[in-house]
Amino acid sequence: MHKDLLTVEDVTNEDLANILKLAEMIKQRRSDWPRDSLKGKTIALIFSKSSTRTRVSFEVGIRELGGNCLFLDSNDMQLGRGETIADTALVLGRYIHGVVIRTYSHEDVVEFAKNARFPVINALTDLFHPCQILTDLFTICEFSGKLENVKVAYVGDCASNMANSIILAAKLAGLNLKLSSPEKYAPNKTLMEVNDGTKGSIFWTPDPEKAVADADYIYTDVWVSMGMEDEKKERLKAFKPYQVNAELLNAAQAGVKIMHCLPAHRGEEITDEVMDSKNSIVFDQAENRLHVQKAILTMLQDENWHELVDIDSKQNNVEVGNA
Ligand code: CP
Ligand code: NVA
Repeated sequence: MHKDLLTVEDVTNEDLANILKLAEMIKQRRSDWPRDSLKGKTIALIFSKSSTRTRVSFEVGIRELGGNCLFLDSNDMQLGRGETIADTALVLGRYIHGVVIRTYSHEDVVEFAKNARFPVINALTDLFHPCQILTDLFTICEFSGKLENVKVAYVGDCASNMANSIILAAKLAGLNLKLSSPEKYAPNKTLMEVNDGTKGSIFWTPDPEKAVADADYIYTDVWVSMGMEDEKKERLKAFKPYQVNAELLNAAQAGVKIMHCLPAHRGEEITDEVMDSKNSIVFDQAENRLHVQKAILTMLQDENWHELVDIDSKQNNVEVGNA
């Protein structure tokens, strides 16, 4: 595994298979997990944006793996008063063993990781949210038993960090992804390009009903991401025809599963009726953040993490999805 997890592009097919396998074992054996992979280590969480799931699941996960965690609001750090990102990374390297960082500019996280001697995990930037989407792949695997050729429709802001992340995840895992948004919020064309060898497919349409028609999963996210509050009025208007509601569900297969990274803005991108329906797996997604991030932390911080997979596979014959 690469030193850092900054985007899905840092994850190879082998890494993905190992993350899914380890997360499954960690989930099954949460109460008697055999190893303190973070014993003696301190992981800092540096956040410039709000968070419920990411912050809590990382803090709990770090403690459950035997480590210490330190939450730092970036506004309280000297970063906010002009100390450089590089100097901050160099100093933190004298105290701690890893950083989980949530900020605005993705370039800042790249700059931080370049100067950090320790593993850096992107906990969301304006461009990418890899921990969320790797969790979503795990959740899809739990429900479908596989990833390749699973049909996912992403409806809403297709130029967002979640859309960018699901596009990269589709290429990695071989999903058949259909995205739908107004033209103005269409996906990044370069990101959508697939090579000859790429598994799966990626397709964009302005027609949400077309996108969901044969989907196994419908995924949505807020219309106004953090940092875009100034555009709220314009966005709420533009995305209105893209609401995940009963009418859109009628255009999909009966058993379609509904996904959302949360937080949801009920009544905007998704209705109560759909969010609380039997099709919805949004709270399973939220729970899985904990298990998947523990797997990621283990692989980045425990140099002997392979032993866990090897031993457990032999002793317990753990079956995992066939990603
Ligand atoms: N999905 C997600 O990252 O949620 P938070 O913003 O609450 O961390
Ligand atoms: N696109 C959303 C995701 C929140 C987890 C945002 O950036 O606010």
